[in-house]
Amino acid sequence: MFETYQSPKELRPSDPRFGVGPSLIPLEFIDSLKAQGVHYLGTSHRKSAVKNVVKEIQEGLRTYFRLPQDYSVVLGNGGATFLFDMLALGMVQKRATHFVCGEFSEKWFKSSKKVPWIETVAQQVPFGEGITPTDDTASDLIACTLNETSTGVIVDQFPKVHDGALLAVDATSGAAQVPCDVSKVDVFFFSPQKVFASDGGLWVAILSPKARERALTLAKDKSRYIPDIMSWESAITNSDQNQTYNTPALATLWFLNEQVKKMNKIGYDAVIEDGHKKAKLVYGWAEEKSYLSPYIKDPKYRSNSVAAIDVDDKVNVDDLLKALAKEKSVYNIDGYRKLGRNQFRIGLFHNIAYSDLEKLTKILSHAIESVL
Ligand SMILES: Cc1ncc(COP(=O)(O)O)c(C=O)c1O
Repeated sequence: MFETYQSPKELRPSDPRFGVGPSLIPLEFIDSLKAQGVHYLGTSHRKSAVKNVVKEIQEGLRTYFRLPQDYSVVLGNGGATFLFDMLALGMVQKRATHFVCGEFSEKWFKSSKKVPWIETVAQQVPFGEGITPTDDTASDLIACTLNETSTGVIVDQFPKVHDGALLAVDATSGAAQVPCDVSKVDVFFFSPQKVFASDGGLWVAILSPKARERALTLAKDKSRYIPDIMSWESAITNSDQNQTYNTPALATLWFLNEQVKKMNKIGYDAVIEDGHKKAKLVYGWAEEKSYLSPYIKDPKYRSNSVAAIDVDDKVNVDDLLKALAKEKSVYNIDGYRKLGRNQFRIGLFHNIAYSDLEKLTKILSHAIESVL
């Protein structure tokens, strides 16, 4: 199917990158990096050229998320997956409750479960459904996923957790675009290769004073074996000095800083609104076409940063996406591989132009209607 399909030139988006991560990095970020010449890439991350960029990222995120002064912006290497282990090893006292609704929230739960000195429980719904997290007085860490990238489900409402608990939010594909009052979260973490338009390999964790104190207190418990690379104490003390514990990818830091600056010019509320506008376009299209339907049935859980759209089984999505990739017009809108559904998963991220999303819906409709 679609072996000979060629899309009309006027329907082709100006940028083919609609993937949910790694996401579209604006080409002007690469130009600004190049313009640094010999004064940034290839210089030490312990010196001011790089430390100033880290500082700008930290301050930029404080401004963007309107963080209280006593919150810490901590950075390290390894991405959000690395933090799954770091949190279970060094942030949970005795028991964690995980809210699971897709591949990533399940992965986090499974990582925690392997740590022998804590108990880990899950509240779970079938993939494709949403879950509203609640407090659990038996646990000292409540774990939820702001935007479940595998299914396009968001957290609609956050719980107020009891005094002895931390609220931890994996915000990887939603941070900055899916509404969340970070000042009410204790650990808000993400990798920057989604809305923040950078490369993978880095993690950012925004910590409340309660979370910071918890991590530093648990670091004194020598009965826990925590590898040095996973030490919260090292991550926090290095970040306080605008550094990472070990060597970071300098280009990744550069792109992240460019995006934080760009988003601060627009502002948090306007970025969220932009995401809602894009979501309305894509879900509206899916509801209008008889051969499409939004995968997430309950609109309150539908993401404004990643949209999963089911496609009629008469259409072979894999073949269609191969044809569009071959002509270089659309990349990476495949469904999450382990879900195994005939599906599009489309990034609604900030840098993806609304006009390109309009073209995307048109090119996909054109291709599908050519075979139905
Ligand atoms: C919600 C969520 N959590 C965690 C991760 C893992 O991030 P990384 O691959 O940067 O470790 C991803 C990656 O897509 C994600 O979408």
